[in-house]
Amino acid sequence: MEFKTVTTALERIKTSCLVIGLYQGTQTDTVFTSLDTVTGGWLSKQIKRGDITGAKGQTLYLYDPPGLKAERLLLIGCGDAAAFGERGYIEANQTAARTLSGGGAKQAVNTLPALSVGQRDADWKTTQAVLAAEYALYTFDEFKTASASPKQALKRLDLWMPEAPAATTLARAVATAHGVAFARDLANRPGNVCHPTYLAKQAKALKKRFDSIELDVLDEAAMEKLGMGAFLAVSKGSAQPGKLIVMQYRGGEKNAKPIALVGKGVTFDTGGISIKPAAQMDEMKFDMGGAASVFGTLLACAEAKLELNIVGVIAAAENMPGGRASRPGDIVKTLSGQSVEILNTDAEGRLVLCDALTYVERFEPSAVVDMATLTGACIVALGHEVSAILGNHPPLIDALKHAGQETFDRIWELPLLDEYQDQLKSNFADMANIGGRAGGTITAACFLSRFTRKYNWAHLDIAGTAWVSGDKKGATGRPVPLLVEYLTHCAADPS
Ligand code: BES
Ligand code: MN
Ligand code: ZN
Repeated sequence: MEFKTVTTALERIKTSCLVIGLYQGTQTDTVFTSLDTVTGGWLSKQIKRGDITGAKGQTLYLYDPPGLKAERLLLIGCGDAAAFGERGYIEANQTAARTLSGGGAKQAVNTLPALSVGQRDADWKTTQAVLAAEYALYTFDEFKTASASPKQALKRLDLWMPEAPAATTLARAVATAHGVAFARDLANRPGNVCHPTYLAKQAKALKKRFDSIELDVLDEAAMEKLGMGAFLAVSKGSAQPGKLIVMQYRGGEKNAKPIALVGKGVTFDTGGISIKPAAQMDEMKFDMGGAASVFGTLLACAEAKLELNIVGVIAAAENMPGGRASRPGDIVKTLSGQSVEILNTDAEGRLVLCDALTYVERFEPSAVVDMATLTGACIVALGHEVSAILGNHPPLIDALKHAGQETFDRIWELPLLDEYQDQLKSNFADMANIGGRAGGTITAACFLSRFTRKYNWAHLDIAGTAWVSGDKKGATGRPVPLLVEYLTHCAADPS
């Protein structure tokens, strides 16, 4: 989809479709009232016929409005004006895009960005309009023989608002949307296609596409040599070899310290010998959602040419049972030198991550953020709306929380207190890889915290947010929007 921002007077806009928000009850919005005036009351007369009340989610096309150069109007129900907020704005934009894509208009002008959304400015409204439209129009039918989604007519969506956003806003929003779509594509691909070697190939393609990206892929032999015993304890059970994928985006000054993003890239998680129950196990193809978000974020940053350095590390492995798989009770030595007793092979995410987190020390990063679909307990604690954040550096946590708030890609902090560390005690090694049922998301983060003492670190548990289940099953691309926002702030203010 192509986007543009426009500020031309509404009555002079030539378009196949003008999209307008409609509140329930009295219309307070200036776009509506001025269009009603220009059409000589035609608009309010149409609405009085009763086919649309303005309730959330309603839509209605009206054709040939008098006094306008638009062929049709598309009304979008926005609900109660007083209750209209960020969520309402995003959903209205999604509804508009979805409705347009099922219709015949090739180009449309969306006036929803002119609605007031709390104190949000033109930049926020532009960004969210782009992300919402691209989110709603996303399809994934690579594996369907007959193209399931008919070719959509809509090619261009102009965003109308009284004053234009900053010059860089639209391009950044579009780059972010591309990053989200890339992450969704990767995560939606099944485990038999999207395995560690496939992810390494994707990294090669990214390097080829952007001069600003460098790549190093460590195979199992290289990891063995380094002493990444925890990572290998997971990957060795699979016929698919594990890979540590190290991408470096160089958009900043040569000597500027990078920010490191580390992604859990378990391309399929059966649980290993501590095998998972069969129900919904297919969804464990999404267990590389953290890795997908690193890919998506790097793509967005490279496309937007952000001026900073980023290291993206992906711990890619498949967790399988079998004759070579780790057993419960096995003890391994991590890259850090600490030993781990693997009491449950299904707690594999922390095993691949701990070695990747030690590995990134060599880049002397100013901050490290890891993303992982790490614990089912996170879904019990926080559900599917917010991701969990835990870490060792409050300013970093605050910056990420702020970025989440800005992008509606929200996160919630859980306490990483010392007391929980006791749950990881092992009779046989420096630590166990599980801490029992209580506070599962926290003890998982406690485990990681033992490998992140040398830098500022935050951990995002995205188990509840990286994908949706049910009839809309599919990857969300979260937390790409949050990460791009955070990195954009870092580029503007390197402190
Ligand atoms: N990938 C899972 C976590 C997960 C489960 C995410 C369901 C989303 C939905 C992870 O590897 C895992 O299996 N974690 C275990 C840890 C436990 C053995 C301590 C879990 O959450 O049950
Ligand atoms: Mn697991
Ligand atoms: Zn897992």
